[in-house]
Amino acid sequence: MSKKIESLLVIGTGTMGAGIAQVAAAAGCEVSLYDTALDAAENARARIAASLARAKEKGYVEAADMEDTLARLHPVGTLESSREAGAVIEAVREDLQVKQEVFLQLENIVPPDTLLWTNTSMISITRIADPLRHPERVAGTHFFNPVPRMKLVEIIGGRRTDARTLEAAESAVRAWGKTPVRAPDTPGFIVNRLLDALLREALSLHEEGVEGRAIDEAVRLGLNFPMGPLELMDLVGLDTTRDCLVAQADGMGRELKCGESLLRLVKDGRLGRKSGRGFFDYPPQ
Ligand code: 3HC
Repeated sequence: MSKKIESLLVIGTGTMGAGIAQVAAAAGCEVSLYDTALDAAENARARIAASLARAKEKGYVEAADMEDTLARLHPVGTLESSREAGAVIEAVREDLQVKQEVFLQLENIVPPDTLLWTNTSMISITRIADPLRHPERVAGTHFFNPVPRMKLVEIIGGRRTDARTLEAAESAVRAWGKTPVRAPDTPGFIVNRLLDALLREALSLHEEGVEGRAIDEAVRLGLNFPMGPLELMDLVGLDTTRDCLVAQADGMGRELKCGESLLRLVKDGRLGRKSGRGFFDYPPQ
């Protein structure tokens, strides 16, 4: 039987880190939130509180559950508190070196049986775990945005990941209400490899002059997708989308041929919903 995760440390409190912390805490896990500054972790807790308040208004969560969830979220100022955690999930920037540094630092703090999970969209788990003394405890746990709504978590093992690490990741995400699917340690795993093709073609169509709204409506109504590809890029963040497209092209050993409109928007600070403007405009909530 795999180890039950009762306490979790989340490193990196952006959209994905905060979403993961929210679902784990909602399911009864004690969650510490860590970022480069305590302010950032406290801010993430405040964003989760606001998101839960909206979810309560919509009738998705009860007031008492919301209070219980918030009581289980603990912003922390040092990594020392990770000693107590059964598992650590990092959701820092999509950068191999940054992720490796986080885990190298953790290896000097946590006991050897603390599980180390990475919420990477693209980066090879084998490579992330490569410099570690205990690569067998590293697995990929790839969540989707918005985390409270998306059912899937891809579970990815690297070359030296132990089977028990994967089983523990699967049972933890199941306990948090998600459905795990094992994915190969290849660029984009399953979902982002498929999504890459859709997004690149949507960008090409847009650059050929097809209206953004028309592309989105066609995909929504013709494929029954909940969102069109341009709205989806705005949701994920155009900077994150760009990083994913570049990493996917690199990983597959091909040149990135599209995305001029995307690069221009990122350069102009139009990053999608989070900045209020991307392909489309978003009034402040
Ligand atoms: N508990 C807590 N919060 C909940 C909740 C629950 N049980 N159920 C819903 N919510 C929250 C949501 O988190 C969200 O909160 P917010 O106000 O902070 O944004 C809000 O309620 C919106 O959810 P709704 O269900 O009311 O909204 P819609 O019905 O309009 O659906 C959508 C929105 C879920 C985004 C839908 O359009 C959709 O599924 N779009 C596609 C999303 C997608 O494809 N995501 C994958 C992106 S790719 C990715 O993430 C990979 C990465 O590596 C790049």
